[in-house]
Amino acid sequence: MATFDNSDMEDQKDPCDSIPRYNENIEEDIAPARTLLEEYSKIPPDQVIAHIHAVRDKAWQIHPYPCLGRFRFLDLSISLHPLYPTVLARLKDSSPPQTFLDLGCCFGQDIRRLVADGAHGENLYGADLRLEFLELGYELFRDKGSLKAHFLEGDVFEEGDGAEGGKGLSKLDGKIDVIYAASFLHLFAWEEQVRAGTRMVRLMRDDSLVFGRQVGTTKPGVYARRTDTGRMRYRHDPDSFQKLWDVIGEKTGTKWKVKAELQKVKGWQSEEQEAHGIGNPRMMQFQVHRLK
Ligand SMILES: C[S@@+](CC[C@H](N)C(=O)[O-])C[C@H]1O[C@@H](n2cnc3c(N)ncnc32)[C@H](O)[C@@H]1O
Repeated sequence: MATFDNSDMEDQKDPCDSIPRYNENIEEDIAPARTLLEEYSKIPPDQVIAHIHAVRDKAWQIHPYPCLGRFRFLDLSISLHPLYPTVLARLKDSSPPQTFLDLGCCFGQDIRRLVADGAHGENLYGADLRLEFLELGYELFRDKGSLKAHFLEGDVFEEGDGAEGGKGLSKLDGKIDVIYAASFLHLFAWEEQVRAGTRMVRLMRDDSLVFGRQVGTTKPGVYARRTDTGRMRYRHDPDSFQKLWDVIGEKTGTKWKVKAELQKVKGWQSEEQEAHGIGNPRMMQFQVHRLK
């Protein structure tokens, strides 16, 4: 069995820790999110910003994820991924229809983007640990009565959940073709990522694909989380992410090929860390294809 020895990786300081987790104002261009809120959700243009703030602040009270505090959910990150056109075409045109799961979907903003771009809502699923985020997604996009996509409360680490008609991921076992996992696996330590990946494999059909983005690093290893005191997370570069999927493959009798890329993000780099050979965070965009 392939193993990945990370025992010599000390807890590393993260330059992102000095960036505020909560921004009072939206500082970046949110044109695609604004278009979605105006055209899909029919929110009057002069109300969009106040509406985003109101929903974001409710979510922040539930759990202070930086993707909420820094309005990263407005990126509609799925549409920035190089595989987006391919995935969208698969979801629009395949026969029989393909199914899609956004794992750790939070508001489900990427599902709304897919629907606005023509994907069939009834084949789309969003799952999150926190039901409140799913409800706030309906509030953000004002589509509770119209969206055909399915949302379910589920914990990726929960085994044997989802009794018939109940909540949980198990009802999707063996039914998913494409999983999107954005800012998700990076929340967890190595062993938890192995468990989460093993769970994803159980959810998927044979010819499946996992893609997404998450915080990566120039030096893979264990990093402390700023919240959840005492808990650790494992940050990857493309090679360590392939090793993770090798382990997941061995545990599940499957084989996976990772293609990933590290991208610099403004404000994330520390020249001092770089000079001392300490890892610097990057955004890692990835795709993981099943080979057998
Ligand atoms: C950092 S947010 C990312 C949300 C979204 N994917 C995005 O890119 O904006 C991580 C999400 O994962 C969910 N999550 C955390 N632990 C989970 C678990 N064990 N099972 C399912 N979802 C989980 C959180 O509730 C949260 O909505």
